[in-house]
Order: sequence, then C-alpha cells, then structure tokens
Amino acid sequence: MYNINKIRKHFPIYQKYPNLVYFDSSASSLVPREVIKSQNDYYAYNGTNVHRGAYRLSYEATQSYDEARLKVAKFINAEENEIIFTKGTTDGLNLLANLLLKDLKEDEIILTSMLEHHSSILPYFQHNYQFIPLDQQRITLSGIKKVMSEKVKIVAITLGSNTLGYITDIQPIIAYLRQYSCTIILDCAQVVAHQAINVKTLDVDFLAFSAHKIFGPNGVGVLYGKEKLLNKYSPLQYGGEMVEKVFIDHAIYKESPFRHEAGTPNIAGVIGLGAAVDFINHLGLSNIAKHTNYLKDYLLRKMALLNEIEIYSQNNELPIILFNVKEVYPHDIASYLDTYQICVRAGFHCAQLVTNLLNVDWTIRISLGIYNTISDCEIFIQRIKEAIAYFKGN
Ligand SMILES: Cc1ncc(COP(=O)(O)O)c(C=O)c1O
Repeated sequence: MYNINKIRKHFPIYQKYPNLVYFDSSASSLVPREVIKSQNDYYAYNGTNVHRGAYRLSYEATQSYDEARLKVAKFINAEENEIIFTKGTTDGLNLLANLLLKDLKEDEIILTSMLEHHSSILPYFQHNYQFIPLDQQRITLSGIKKVMSEKVKIVAITLGSNTLGYITDIQPIIAYLRQYSCTIILDCAQVVAHQAINVKTLDVDFLAFSAHKIFGPNGVGVLYGKEKLLNKYSPLQYGGEMVEKVFIDHAIYKESPFRHEAGTPNIAGVIGLGAAVDFINHLGLSNIAKHTNYLKDYLLRKMALLNEIEIYSQNNELPIILFNVKEVYPHDIASYLDTYQICVRAGFHCAQLVTNLLNVDWTIRISLGIYNTISDCEIFIQRIKEAIAYFKGN
C-alpha cells in the first residue's frame, strides 16, 4: 500500500490548506507539482509555437508537444496519429457528433442513455435519438439488444457514469454491435482515471477524455479515433497547420492527427497532459483504484450506520458515492461541509436525466482521489453527523 503522506507532498495545495478534505476528484483531480512545473517551464523558457517555426526553440516546443502525444498514445495503446488534442471531453464529443450527424439520414438513429453526462447526449438532441433501456441503472448488452436495428448508425455511451459510478461491461456490447454498421463512441472521462484503457482490445471507433481528471490541466483533452476513420472524415475544424495545399476552390488536407488540429493548440496544456500521464503511470492505475475503492468501502460502511442518509450508488466500480441526507437540500449540506474545508459536489452533476431515474432533484456526490486518507473519511463522517443534527435537529 502507498504512503499517502508522501503522495500528498506532490500536491502543493496541501501546503496552503493542510486540512483540506477534497472529495470532488470526479469533477477535477488536484494537480501535482510535476504537471504545474512542466507547464510553467514551457511558458518561462520557451513559449513558441509548434510545427511552424524554423528555429531551435520552436523545434524544442514541437518535440515536447509530440512527446506528449506519444505518451498519451501509449497510455491507451493507440497509434500516435490516432490521438487528437481537444479542449476536453465535451469538446471532443461535440466536434465528433457534429461531424457524424452531417452524414446521417433523417430516419437514422443514435442510441444513447439516460446515464450520460450532458456532453454525450445533448449533441444528439438535434437528430433522432433513442435511449437504451437501463438494467438496474446500468447500460447492458440485453438493454442494447432491445433497441438495436439496422437504422442505428451511432451508439454514444459512457464507459463510466459520473454520478452512479457504474462501469459499463463494454466488451460484449462492442462485440455485438460489430454485427451492425454503426459508429461506436465512448465517453471515457471518468474511467480513464481508474482503469487501463486499451483501444485495440476495446475495438472502439472513437473515445474521449479530459486531462483535468487525470492530474492534468484544464482545457485540454483527447479524442481518440481509429486511423482509417480519422483520415476518412473531413476535418473537425479548419484553419492553420492542417492543410497540405490550398487552391482557389478546394484544399488538400493533411493526414491525422494534424488534419483535425486546426490552429495553435494548447501547447502548455498538452505538455502538462504528458506530465500527468507520467505521474499516473508512476502511481499505477490499479493502485489508484485499489486505494480509492478501499476508502469508498470504508465510507460506505460508516455512512450505512446513519439512518438519515440515502445512498443511490450501490455496488459501483468507480470511487463515487452518490447520496442525500433525507429531506435536506444537498446544497445546504455541501455549504455546511465547506465551512470545514470539505469539498463535495451538490446538484445534478451535468447528468440531469439521472435524477429522473432516481426520482430526486439533486444529490450530493463524493468522489475520491489517490491523495485522500482514512483521516479525510473520519473528518467527513464527523461533520456529516453534525450537519444532520444541525439541519434535522436531532
Ligand atoms: C462522464 C463525463 N463525461 C464528460 C465530462 C465532461 O468533461 P469536460 O468538462 O472536461 O469536458 C465529464 C466531466 O465531468 C464527465 O464526468
């Protein structure tokens, strides 16, 4: 097991807030000094553009940027030219949806689910979409079989729910979907921080994730696509450095990844993402999952003793606990906890249809990270008991 105190030393925030209990890692993980330094160094000692300058500094910036692409590719077992840098999961999923929807006929269908984050569902509201019936709030093969048909051209689903914390048993689903001619898109924003993703075994067409959930910076993310698809589709955006030759009435575009990365990218962000991948590799995804799930089970055992708490995320795989204090507004609980520097999330967590499934308006979400400790859990339990007493007068 880890020496968590040693790991915490990588996160400068604990120097400023030694008593911080950060339980919102599914929103954004804390950022280690290695990632901060990599970005600072780029801005302090380089700051030049990539793939454009005919001088040493620009070559060096390009080298660091390209190295980050290689690290990300290895991280998910992809090829370098299958990694497109985006602004994040939302950006990747939206750009892709808009591209694919252009080719869809009116009667063709997109399958998605009520478990999705809004970025994996709202882009399809402009077309014919259908929900996969859930099985105990999970996306399952049997649910998909009920609605699958030749008319379905896109299946856009989450690999891991950001609210209920379920990981979709995706392999049999993809094997089944391969009998049809449809594009499979996975939202991997949550799972990427807890489980190794191997695009070759997955055989998925596209997937997206964000750097800021794996210790990286905000505003940068990854859209993975199979090489043949990325080179088949027209560019996601148009602009600088994505074109081979421009004629008066047409243009010849570069191959992937450059074809899809128009304009000056978030160079520091991408370099920071590369450093984040190094950091996560150093920790080991299975160690992170083991530690965070151990803490989750610990918290669940303690929370189960509190009658006023209702837990919605049962037997999930991700280190997420979704709950409410009966008859108390989640935002009141979150504000109470915040007075003790305990950060939890209250609301519908950008996945509002899940509240329909649960028949509630809002919930409180705890999501754990590698830097959390048993002591964090104890403090939370003590304060939530106080909050219950405060709001419920018992
Ligand atoms: C499952 C899921 N999908 C998509 C997103 C969107 O990520 P971003 O805000 O980085 O674009 C999130 C972020 O919370 C998420 O949890």
